[in-house]
Amino acid sequence: MRVSVLLNGQPQALECEPHESLMAVLRRHGLWSVKHGCETGECGACSVLVDDRIMPTCVMLAGQVEGRSVVTTESLNPTQALHPIQQAFADTGAIQCGYCTPAMVLAAKMLLEREPNPSEAQVREALSAVNQTSNWRELFEIKQSQPYPSGMSTAASRRDTEPQRAAASSLRLRVSA
Ligand code: FES
Repeated sequence: MRVSVLLNGQPQALECEPHESLMAVLRRHGLWSVKHGCETGECGACSVLVDDRIMPTCVMLAGQVEGRSVVTTESLNPTQALHPIQQAFADTGAIQCGYCTPAMVLAAKMLLEREPNPSEAQVREALSAVNQTSNWRELFEIKQSQPYPSGMSTAASRRDTEPQRAAASSLRLRVSA
């Protein structure tokens, strides 16, 4: 079967079997930021944004995204430069082992698009959806610091440059466990 999807801002037709998970199809499509973890919808490592909501792809059939928008972390890097959210994770050590970081970055992106100045509780809630493996005793501190890089080419990235995102266009995220 063929699934038509807006993948990282680009219309795509994904070939898949009816029983295949979205995780399997995205990885076969070369989107390796979609991590293969528990396959039960619990760890969150495979999560992407589906219609701007963070969703575990291992428990979704690829056919369920017909006509929908799917955003993976690859969309944040049209150049080799890190996205500010990725840079913040790197700067603060929030990347941890790195395996679920792509999903955490997307969860942070979703949060900041909805709430440019989130509370610690909101950050905890947003990131807990994609990280069930850590013993979080952390302090999250998100601050404005520098603008998103210009020249991003995907539709998902272009949305980041909209005025309502300007307040969230830069951040510093510090995590201490
Ligand atoms: S691999 Fe999908 S939630 Fe763990």
